[in-house]
Amino acid sequence: MSNQDVSADNVIATADFHSLFPNTSHSAALVVSSDAIAHFPAIELPMLYAYEQLVLAAIVRTVAPRTVVEFGTGRGSGTFVLAANSPDDASIYTLDLSNDTRGDYTRKILRDNDDVGLAYRPTPEAKKITQLLVPPGKPMHDSLTGLRKKVDFIYVDGDHGYQGVRDDTLAAVELAAPEAILLWHDFYDFPDYIREGHAKRGVFPWLNEFTATSPFGLFHIAGTYFVAGSRAWKEKSPAGTRMRQPGDRPAPFGTRILRQGEA
Ligand SMILES: C[S@@+](CC[C@H](N)C(=O)[O-])C[C@H]1O[C@@H](n2cnc3c(N)ncnc32)[C@H](O)[C@@H]1O
Repeated sequence: MSNQDVSADNVIATADFHSLFPNTSHSAALVVSSDAIAHFPAIELPMLYAYEQLVLAAIVRTVAPRTVVEFGTGRGSGTFVLAANSPDDASIYTLDLSNDTRGDYTRKILRDNDDVGLAYRPTPEAKKITQLLVPPGKPMHDSLTGLRKKVDFIYVDGDHGYQGVRDDTLAAVELAAPEAILLWHDFYDFPDYIREGHAKRGVFPWLNEFTATSPFGLFHIAGTYFVAGSRAWKEKSPAGTRMRQPGDRPAPFGTRILRQGEA
């Protein structure tokens, strides 16, 4: 089965970053985390590969959110990017699993360290960040309930199973301010992933389902595994739209995650 075949039901169009965020400054300094290169060998995919870190930083610079929520802290390098590129008075809330509910996936992300958020904690940006720990299936932490309709930027990168990403997305919709930008990571349509089923690999099928009824227009950002959403983006794309991702070239590279060292 080719990559083309498995993505035939994709209805989320790919757009270049600058067409989605035309007001991005041409002279802004973007701040990213050194965590990936300090801890991951080049051949591995870090939490966010380099271009994705820049895209995340550029979106945050452009949106200039006062309030940010991140689902899925992990090591906290994405949280650092959110804090370092947002206005000085921004508040960043980042959720991860409570200690007793973490499994192998979290341990793998943390490299057998159980210190969620270790990449941002020693930095000055930490003062903008509030860490929230939740059990699976309870993304609306008590600290977030007062933020309904007030959050300017929401980054969904926690549980990538269908139910988990659906729960987080529905919480994100409740939290989103009218002009909010939503961003999801891990929008993979690799055949090996699709074959593992929705329960485990839920981002691609869930977002394709969500976009049909959602008030948010969704676009895959070219060259990344991000999908961005905004109520201001109305355009829908026809079934069969093909994504452009890193590694989107003939097999074997087009059929699995492109590791940093292969880019
Ligand atoms: C890919 S990592 C996050 C990476 C981070 N956003 C970044 O950009 O560096 C995913 C994290 O989500 C957490 N997670 C998994 N299921 C979750 C859930 N139901 N609620 C909150 N966090 C969850 C995992 O423990 C893991 O630390």
